[in-house]
Amino acid sequence: MPAPEETADAYLRALRAYTEGRGGEAALADAYELGRTVLSAGAGVLEIAEIHHRALLALAEDGDDVQRRRRMAAAGRFLLEALSPFEMMLRGFRESNAALRGINEQLENETRRLAHVLHDEAGQMLAAVYIALDGAVGRLPAAQREPFTTVRALLAGVEGQLRRLSHELRPTILDDMGLRPALEYLAEGIQQRYGIAIAVTGSAGPRLPPALETALYRAAQEALNNIAKHAGATQVRIELQHSAGAVEMTVRDNGKGFEPSQCHHNHGLGLAGMRERLHGVGGELAIHSAPGEGTELRIHATLSA
Ligand SMILES: Nc1ncnc2c1ncn2[C@@H]1O[C@H](COP(=O)(O)OP(=O)(O)O)[C@@H](O)[C@H]1O
Ligand SMILES: [Mg+2]
Repeated sequence: MPAPEETADAYLRALRAYTEGRGGEAALADAYELGRTVLSAGAGVLEIAEIHHRALLALAEDGDDVQRRRRMAAAGRFLLEALSPFEMMLRGFRESNAALRGINEQLENETRRLAHVLHDEAGQMLAAVYIALDGAVGRLPAAQREPFTTVRALLAGVEGQLRRLSHELRPTILDDMGLRPALEYLAEGIQQRYGIAIAVTGSAGPRLPPALETALYRAAQEALNNIAKHAGATQVRIELQHSAGAVEMTVRDNGKGFEPSQCHHNHGLGLAGMRERLHGVGGELAIHSAPGEGTELRIHATLSA
């Protein structure tokens, strides 16, 4: 990788050649290559602007007024060429972002479909079980019917749990009432199933864009699943905060914690998937945790105007 000074010198040479009418297309190709060099060195548009500006100052001394005006116009074309690798990268980012959003939307639709299937099919199957059960019990002498009240009660419990799971999978409450009520519903279910005390506090403000609400809901869902699976926590707090241009969600547990730097290469759809999904809607995820210290996930999302 050439040193920054070498790049700046090469830029000045190519710019001089081009603006003096010597380099032609080849000098423009140099401009493009120099832009790429700066880009692949991890530098950005500001560095190019700086290099260009210094080169212009150096050239401003040469020639008479008419020549200078002509050269300034040529320098403008040269700069655009040097910037075009950045433009292409930006376009690439936008396209992959759009693709990511598309995939997330498909996933959501599929989840919605599964939630409906689970809800409806399970409901129908259980209804059939009730009918069969009642038929069988009806043929028994009254004295032997007693134990089947327990079976009925257990079935009612299964039905309730299945309905709840299907709602959590894709809560209509999220579409109808927004993030906080949906999080409360989710928290209530986890609390019942795993015996972890979960408090939901604060507010995300007025309704957020649907894709962001969904991404935050999915993040909380994964965070709570992780807590239930890995943390051994007894208490969790989900806190929502909002300001004019941003919304923040924090999920904190008092569990055993972990070393976040150790899970970077984890295959998981879990934290890695959460981070990617959030990127697609202008969100960032920060993980604060250490063994013995509990875990805090902090999500910050910027609202586009
Ligand atoms: N709240 C938490 N408490 C303790 N450990 C956690 C917590 N969240 C995540 N982890 C750790 O981080 C790892 C990665 O999590 P994740 O990406 O969701 O994958 P998975 O849940 O499939 O293992 C987990 O395997 C676990 O070791
Ligand atoms: Mg997980």
